Amino acid sequence: MLAGKKILLIIGGGIAAYKSHETIRRLRERGASVVPVLTRAAEEFVTPLSVSALAGEKVYRDLFDLTDEAEMGHIQLSRAADLVVVAPATADLMAKMAAGLANDLASTLLMATDKRVLIAPAMNVRMWDHPATQRNRAQLASDGVLYVGPNEGDMACGEFGAGRMAEPLEIVAAIEGAFGGGPLKGKHVLVTSGPTHEPIDPVRYIANRSSGAQGAALAAALRDLGARVSFVTGPADVPPPAGVDVIRVQSARDMLTAVEAALPADAAVFAAAVADWRVANAAGQKMKKDASGTLPVLEFAENPDILRHVSQLGQGRPSLVVGFAAETEKVVEHATAKRARKGCDWIVANDVSPETGIMGGRENAVVIISDAGAESWPRMDKNEVAARLAARIAEALA
Ligand code: C5P
Repeated sequence: MLAGKKILLIIGGGIAAYKSHETIRRLRERGASVVPVLTRAAEEFVTPLSVSALAGEKVYRDLFDLTDEAEMGHIQLSRAADLVVVAPATADLMAKMAAGLANDLASTLLMATDKRVLIAPAMNVRMWDHPATQRNRAQLASDGVLYVGPNEGDMACGEFGAGRMAEPLEIVAAIEGAFGGGPLKGKHVLVTSGPTHEPIDPVRYIANRSSGAQGAALAAALRDLGARVSFVTGPADVPPPAGVDVIRVQSARDMLTAVEAALPADAAVFAAAVADWRVANAAGQKMKKDASGTLPVLEFAENPDILRHVSQLGQGRPSLVVGFAAETEKVVEHATAKRARKGCDWIVANDVSPETGIMGGRENAVVIISDAGAESWPRMDKNEVAARLAARIAEALA
């Protein structure tokens, strides 16, 4: 799948640079060629000689090396590749990319390339959580940059949290996904995400606290495995990932229409927190305070259950339908009943009681309910839940 592909691998200056040796070996094993570029800081962590020996290629090191410029200019170098990979992508490199700086070879290549860019962030947890890095992350995602990781775990600096670089094999899988060659190549997967907004009048609405984080992570993970993803999202806090077809909706009824329009699909995952009820007597004009003090009375009507509707389609039912169940007690019992009631294949259940911090947080602890029973996964980053779930979906569709 990677045979004959040319990867321009930019190695940033972080302790995770040591993983580049293994990444290069795994890529070459799969038939890819790797042209390595070291930032000056990277040379503090890995030597040009070792990288060059493993890649079997010259290492490019500095923008103003005139020999390099004569042999292959930076424009040509950035375009001759099929994909540009930055691993590790340090906070500094991400900031340069987001700002469009081009003051060394690595950042100049990233500005000059006309190819897709995949980055594997690696940094201390506080640096990753810093608002500046999070701003840059969002900016790069909306510029179409692809991500793999970061993962959560013990870090070289002794702290624990998000910021650990993805492992070499995860990077290789993401590279395969970027070429559309992953196990979901040729498959269409529909994902719903985010809350819905149900209007009370033209300026007010009823909503819920869903951030859309799990749905967005899942869409990205499915994309990374090569799926074509239709991402139907309500007004979420988390931006949709790059490289998926985004269909933005407001209400549950809009969401149903968008889902029907996006079908057929091989699999459908309903991660949206759809409002169960809408206001039946929503006003056409902004409601006014009544001088007599009479309070408005809202009447509710039941919203369509999109998951149940799609699960119970005869013809045109996706071969795998996955629902979510946010519960605050008796998680397995309620989710098992929900699976039967809705008619979906799997339910991904989680406990969203406020003390878990899951709703709107970065981690999730889920139980997968299927024909095979209930399988509890340990608490982990939502991105990791997404990666595992996407891999399961790929297995089920294989
Ligand atoms: O019934 P409950 O809302 O707990 O079910 C949750 C699951 O059903 C989620 O997968 C959610 O996306 C889906 N759902 C839906 N349409 C609704 C309500 C829930 O698709 N109106």
